Amino acid sequence: MATQLTTHQTGADSAIERLPRVFSGIQPSGNFHLGNYLGAIRNWVKQQDLYANTFCIVDLHALSLATTREGLQENIRNLATIIVASGIDPEHCTLFVQSDVAEHSELCWILQSVTQFGELRRMTQFKDKSGGQDESVSSALFTYPVLQAADILLHDAELVPVGEDQKQHIELTRDVAHRFNQRYGETLVLPRPDIKEEGARIMALDDPTKKMSKSSPNPNSYVALGDTPDIIRRKIKRAVTDSGSEIVVDPDKPALSNLISIYAILTEQTPAEVQEAFVGKGYGAFKSDLGDVIVAAIEPIQRRLAELDASPEIIEEVLRSGAVKARDYARGTMIRVRDRVGLGGF
Ligand code: AMP
Ligand code: TRP
Repeated sequence: MATQLTTHQTGADSAIERLPRVFSGIQPSGNFHLGNYLGAIRNWVKQQDLYANTFCIVDLHALSLATTREGLQENIRNLATIIVASGIDPEHCTLFVQSDVAEHSELCWILQSVTQFGELRRMTQFKDKSGGQDESVSSALFTYPVLQAADILLHDAELVPVGEDQKQHIELTRDVAHRFNQRYGETLVLPRPDIKEEGARIMALDDPTKKMSKSSPNPNSYVALGDTPDIIRRKIKRAVTDSGSEIVVDPDKPALSNLISIYAILTEQTPAEVQEAFVGKGYGAFKSDLGDVIVAAIEPIQRRLAELDASPEIIEEVLRSGAVKARDYARGTMIRVRDRVGLGGF
């Protein structure tokens, strides 16, 4: 007897009377920092009621650089706890670990057949992360954007909230989906990046020409979510500033502009309003206030983190039930994809 397929499985799902679908991912690679919070998770939290949200801890992506078993397990657990402590409500959002849903790897392979070698070679993240050593880095670092495309397309995401650095990967995802649809007929939904102007590119505290990054060897270059108030204030005091003494937004003062932008986002003001508030005050007063503002934003998250850490079964259950929901959705998409491509089915 033929199984009755749902509209999602047949691809006839209608956009009427449902929330737009959002998908985003983040790597469990340790040292979650203020850039990740302002560029990504804070926006996920602010918009969570507007969309049908799926958020993913992309542990398979983390394998593109060397990991250890213990380190990876710890990072997955910590990141899930940070996401929930930051305000993602697991009752309203699906939060899961990528490798718990095997369909991500399966779709990745199928999409590789419609991804061009040259497209991947042009990815700036690959160029940055391989550091010119492309003979010895893992091939997973090279095919990384295809797995990212699979993540997004598997969940029929229409919007992908990310920081500026991910724009090229979302454009590639659209190109790959479009090529797939041309070859096999309308199957995959073309996603759009959702990049906020503010916070999309938080720069390193020690060098405003580089983005704040987990992989920096200098811990003074980022504010980590786990930093104590004293450490946060000290890092901000030490942050490089430009010459001069006034608090002004100016393209020629990238270090100061970065700090003003962090202040503006966290206090929900425009950079011009921040500039106005500090007329006649020097760098010292500004940095001291900025330290307080960051501490005030991070402290409640740290309090919830401590509570969640005391009951690890809460996060385990969130990830377990998230995987069940994500697997269920992914299975539907793969029925559609396999059918269109003509794979197996016996
Ligand atoms: P990753 O840590 O590379 O997995 O990035 C997770 C999310 O944080 C992605 O949406 C990135 O675009 C965002 N992100 C990472 N670094 C920064 C930064 N310095 N400024 C703003 N967003 C960032
Ligand atoms: N590549 C993203 C990053 O480094 C993480 C990621 C993986 C992602 N899959 C995704 C982001 C899907 C958005 C959607 O930040």
